[in-house]
Formats: sequence, structure tokens, C-alpha cells
Amino acid sequence: MYLQVTNLKKSYGTGEGRQEILKGVNLAIEKGSTASIVGSSGCGKSTLLNCIGGLEVIDDGDIQVGGKSLKGLGKRELGAYRRDSIGYIFQFFNLLPDLNVRDNIRVAERLTDKPMEYGALLDQLGLAGIERKYPNQLSGG
Ligand SMILES: Nc1ncnc2c1ncn2[C@@H]1O[C@H](COP(=O)(O)OP(=O)(O)O)[C@@H](O)[C@H]1O
Ligand SMILES: [Mg+2]
Repeated sequence: MYLQVTNLKKSYGTGEGRQEILKGVNLAIEKGSTASIVGSSGCGKSTLLNCIGGLEVIDDGDIQVGGKSLKGLGKRELGAYRRDSIGYIFQFFNLLPDLNVRDNIRVAERLTDKPMEYGALLDQLGLAGIERKYPNQLSGG
């Protein structure tokens, strides 16, 4: 299994205000497959994704991606994990408003030493033809 989440626990706050959001989540997703995480507002979907994305430190359990555990990774290693091993689109997508589509994509080139096929990527994403537009000229999708 490519992504394996085992007995994941995550709470926010301390003392009286402590709220356990994820109470032992198990999840396994195979490489190349598509999964939807569905649940009522506030049930912890974003919290789960933030944990998998290495943006939140977990309280208990484990997350393994490609056979490697995120447990015990330091700030620097988590940064490398986020840069090299995972892609994440936020609900509020955090595109750079002053850069057009082309330059928003090309920011990634500066962050990685992996080769990037810009033209192929544009086709794959269905963005060919609108590469000069700015985020506020596009639909959210
Ligand atoms: N950074 C945070 N600090 C404290 N509570 C949080 C934080 N992020 C989320 N929560 C709380 O955790 C619960 C789950 O939130 P969230 O994961 O955003 O739910 P969903 O994405 O399913 O709507 C909510 O009660 C929310 O208020
Ligand atoms: Mg959410």
C-alpha cells in the first residue's frame, strides 16, 4: 500500500479546551488510485490531510508514505517530504496573485532539481491557452 495511516490520533488545544479530532483513523490507499474523504463539516477531513501532508504533528499512530514513516521526522526532513513526495492543493489555493499561470507553475522549478516538462504539464492540467492569465481571472477549479 502506498499510503498507510494507522490508528492516527490528533487533538487541538490543551487542558479543558483539548479537543480530540482524529480518534484512531485507519486508511490505506494504493498508488495510482483515487480516493475521496467524505464527512460533515468540522469532522476532521482537513486535519487528516494536513497530517498526511506533513503540516501537522500527530499525537499518536503512524503515517507511512511509500514505505517511509513520517514519525520522528524533524522540520528539515518534513520540508523535504513536502517538497519531494507530496502534492497538496489547499481549499484556499494559495496561488501567487501577481504571477500568471505560467509563472505560478514555474515557481516549482526553483524549488526542485527534478526536471519539469512545462509544456506537457500544461496539457495534462488542461491549462494550455490560459497560461498568461492571472489567478483572479480564473475559476477556482
Ligand atoms: N488549528 C486548529 N486549532 C484548533 N482547532 C482546530 C484547528 N484546525 C481545525 N480545528 C478544529 O478541528 C475540527 C475539525 O476541523 P477540520 O479538520 O477543518 O474539519 P473539516 O475539514 O472536516 O471541515 C473543527 O472542530 C475545527 O474547529
Ligand atoms: Mg476542510
